[in-house]
Amino acid sequence: MDYKQTLLSPIKIGNFTAANRFFAQPMECTDADADGNPSDLTYARYENLFKGGFALIDLEAITITGESRGRKNQLEIMPKNAAAIAKFVRTLKAINPKALFVFQLTHAGELSNPAFSRRVTVKNLPGYEGDLLSDEEVDRIMDEFVLASQIAHDAGADGIDMKFCHGYLGNQILRPYNDRKWKYGGSWGNRSRFAYDLYERIQKAVNDPNFLIGSKVSLWEGFPGGFGSASPDSPVMDMTEPIDFIKNLEARGASYFVETIGNPTITISYVEADRDHEYMTFMHAYFANLLKKICKPETVIIGSHFAPFRDGKNTRLGAMNPRDTALFAYAAKCIQDGVMDMVGLGRQSLADPLTPQKLIDGKENEIKYCSSCLNCLELMIQQEHIGCATFNKRYTKTFVEMRKRLGKVGAMHT
Ligand SMILES: Cc1cc2nc3c(=O)[nH]c(=O)nc-3n(C[C@H](O)[C@H](O)[C@H](O)COP(=O)(O)O)c2cc1C
Repeated sequence: MDYKQTLLSPIKIGNFTAANRFFAQPMECTDADADGNPSDLTYARYENLFKGGFALIDLEAITITGESRGRKNQLEIMPKNAAAIAKFVRTLKAINPKALFVFQLTHAGELSNPAFSRRVTVKNLPGYEGDLLSDEEVDRIMDEFVLASQIAHDAGADGIDMKFCHGYLGNQILRPYNDRKWKYGGSWGNRSRFAYDLYERIQKAVNDPNFLIGSKVSLWEGFPGGFGSASPDSPVMDMTEPIDFIKNLEARGASYFVETIGNPTITISYVEADRDHEYMTFMHAYFANLLKKICKPETVIIGSHFAPFRDGKNTRLGAMNPRDTALFAYAAKCIQDGVMDMVGLGRQSLADPLTPQKLIDGKENEIKYCSSCLNCLELMIQQEHIGCATFNKRYTKTFVEMRKRLGKVGAMHT
């Protein structure tokens, strides 16, 4: 099978069929309005993704609370947002009714920005100190996640991605570092309780067998005591807990997992490597493959970190035939070899949201490829509206103005 056939073949996910193997990664772009609702900028981004031929689109991290959040202009999902979210889903589904839409639900925990919100923590991590969460507060946060799932369902979303990655609250609770003696810490049983109870409660509350539940999981955070390490202070990787975790989520109804590793504020290159460290991408194949090995064949495994594979002309990925480092060729090989079932595009979806559609239409030569410059990440760190500063003039302007304001000189990366 050639790469086009592989990438454009359908796949069953839960009770749905995804039309092809392209997954739009959740990409926070901090452009919600003052109430946390989608703004014109948010609409423009998602309208492009829905026109872009992606079979499964993951709405960027949407916060279940305004009290503790990572971004000033983050999308919010609370009863006050329900009508705006329903309108958003309706509009997007009218563009492409076949595209499946899941929402990535999050709480930032220790990554809440104290400049405009309350930083809370399961156990103070050096550099991320905040108010210690009590049992009752986490119980309340779980109620908010359940409510957010119901709002997503009622708005017409096809499912949720309960976020257990990148060092946000769902991930913080799981870490061996969370060895505080409390309802949600210490033993593995206590640390996994939040996730397992939440999965069960969400499904009961939504009560729709078609509603997808899945998660993007950082299988290894990559620092001592992070999820996937051997003990609260060990730097040694140990997959015992992550494997148990995945199997238990699967047993509780997960129909898909999105592979990822790392924590953007501590081990950024594992999450999204810059252009000098693009070889990090090969680590992701190991973890996606691990998910494939431990999950049932019908559980859909989505791989991450494809930005380095452009048109095959990336000379930084040494020891490979240039033809094999082209994004489509590499991604199709991963699927054919059983390493993953779907291919997640993150930064590439900002660079060119029409990437899958251009493959479908035979217009591959018109695709604009991400250069891993990470200017989008710099926009995020500065709480600016995010988009591709290389290919979208609106964001080039934002980027240049931001750099001037910060007194930074020099050309932006391209
Ligand atoms: C600007 C930006 C926003 C992101 N927002 C999210 C997010 O909301 N949720 C998430 O799980 N990952 C987020 N990520 C990580 C990406 O989804 C993806 O895992 C990572 O960029 C690696 O994949 P790529 O090579 O396809 O970009 C973000 C990354 C960037 C650069």
